[in-house]
Amino acid sequence: MKPVRFVLVGAGRAGMVHANNLVHYIPEGELVAIVDVNRETAERSAQEAGISTFYQDLDECFEKEQFDAVCIGSLTFTHREIVEKAAEAGKHIFSEKPLAQNLTEAEAIVKAVNTSGVKFQIGFMRRYDPAMREAYRMVNEGAIGELVVIKSTGRGPGLPPPWIWDRKKSGGMFAEVSAHDIDAVLWFAGKQPQRVFMEAGNFKSPQAKKEYPDFYDHYVVTLVFKDGPLGSIDGGCPVGYAYDARMEFLGTEGMVRVGETEDTGPVLMTLDKKATRDNHTSWRFRFKEGYLEELKSFIRSIREGWEPTPSVRDGYRAVTVVETAHRSLAEGRPVTIEGEW
Ligand SMILES: NC(=O)c1ccc[n+]([C@@H]2O[C@H](COP(=O)([O-])OP(=O)(O)OC[C@H]3O[C@@H](n4cnc5c(N)ncnc54)[C@H](O)[C@@H]3O)[C@@H](O)[C@H]2O)c1
Repeated sequence: MKPVRFVLVGAGRAGMVHANNLVHYIPEGELVAIVDVNRETAERSAQEAGISTFYQDLDECFEKEQFDAVCIGSLTFTHREIVEKAAEAGKHIFSEKPLAQNLTEAEAIVKAVNTSGVKFQIGFMRRYDPAMREAYRMVNEGAIGELVVIKSTGRGPGLPPPWIWDRKKSGGMFAEVSAHDIDAVLWFAGKQPQRVFMEAGNFKSPQAKKEYPDFYDHYVVTLVFKDGPLGSIDGGCPVGYAYDARMEFLGTEGMVRVGETEDTGPVLMTLDKKATRDNHTSWRFRFKEGYLEELKSFIRSIREGWEPTPSVRDGYRAVTVVETAHRSLAEGRPVTIEGEW
């Protein structure tokens, strides 16, 4: 069977994780070209990936190249346009999270994907992390009884770049930093939340607040599901000490915990009787297997003809939670999610 041929659109931090996986670790996939609006980035990234074909213009790439799928690693506010072009051209789509910066764009993406019939997978790589999958199996097989509370903590060491400070472009810090937490809580709960309540504050980023008065850098969000469980997400940047992604599942008959702040590297013991070990420094390393396995699964779905997961609808659900949380924050009260999604 021929490898699935990819074009990477957006060759930054996330995009190059996928490019490197395609080139070095996934023989069933092939990276044929890189597109980036920044020509230098396109050229440098192509060199780094060991391929010769790069473009600054997506339309030109679509005209000239033969390929099966796009991998979207560009900024959130560009996702809609790229998805619409790819879907219209009949290309399968793997897109980075968040799906879009608001619900209007998310709806347009769902429509483009459903109308075209192309396969779509959103990059919620936690669903492919070995420990998360094992926790999911345990919880679903009843190892801790009925779920009571799902807690997710997502914190990054540094302040994200300025485009993320602008909620209109990114969906805000809750979307950018915690889209994974939102998806994981919904995945484990297996149902739609009834109510969402958000509190947030800017504790460490006066420079962002100057330009964007609604900017917050830390937040706590409560999600309430009908007949349980309760969900809680706390997140923020910059925390400095680590890339910190941990989850806890409390059940009626026990508890499951996933994720450590410490890396799996060596522990240093010194004569002052202290033991030290490095913390995780980046999502790249903490979820290394997740990034690899999510793309492998997407490729298998194309070759074997089944629906990939997490789906475009999962991406849409996470955007719904973000928008509802922001309404809650603005209105200072819990907000009910109306209708079925
Ligand atoms: N899954 C994860 O854990 C994870 C981690 C980081 C970022 N992300 C997501 O990935 C996306 C990119 O974030 P990043 O941190 O890699 O950004 P980045 O700034 O490092 O890279 C984005 C790249 O996209 C290019 N670009 C912008 N608009 C474009 C367009 N219209 N067409 C082609 N290229 C374009 C930029 O020139 C840049 O090179 C965001 O949606 C972000 O939320 C996901």
